[in-house]
Amino acid sequence: MLIGNYMVKFTDDKLNEVKALMARYPEGRQKSAVIPVLHLAQEEFGGWLDVPVMDYVAELLSITPIEVYEVATFYSMFNLKPVGKYMFEVCQTGPCMINGCDEIIDYIGEKLGIKPGQTTADGMFTLKTVECLGACGYAPMMQLGKHYKEHLTKEKVDALIEECRRGAVANNL
Ligand code: FES
Repeated sequence: MLIGNYMVKFTDDKLNEVKALMARYPEGRQKSAVIPVLHLAQEEFGGWLDVPVMDYVAELLSITPIEVYEVATFYSMFNLKPVGKYMFEVCQTGPCMINGCDEIIDYIGEKLGIKPGQTTADGMFTLKTVECLGACGYAPMMQLGKHYKEHLTKEKVDALIEECRRGAVANNL
């Protein structure tokens, strides 16, 4: 399957990973591997799940496309549109809210000139609000790639944006 100028096809290594994931479940229950396979697909195909990518996952797992869409649209860790190189996923659930996440979200938005759900024009940053990330004791917090950034303050946000711009933060894909 062709999307833009790249093929929707896992490399052989990734296909082996998919097979290993599917092998964890009994015959006929390969749908159970849908979440980890979607993670692999998101990593492999540009950080988000275009419809042809989800269709490809459905084909691999021998399930219907709607069974993949319903999972991908339910969980906030799956992106359904292109995202920036760095994605700030700021928790907005109760404990983070009472510790000032709204102010942090507004501040990031002002600094980057975007609202939650948007990406900067240069493709560098996406701001996203998410539900509890299980780090309530470190509120307010956000996820950036595979890392948590905790006890956020405006100063920490400034430093983080600066580090991203300098390329000093690992890409989140
Ligand atoms: S409420 Fe934000 S991490 Fe739990």
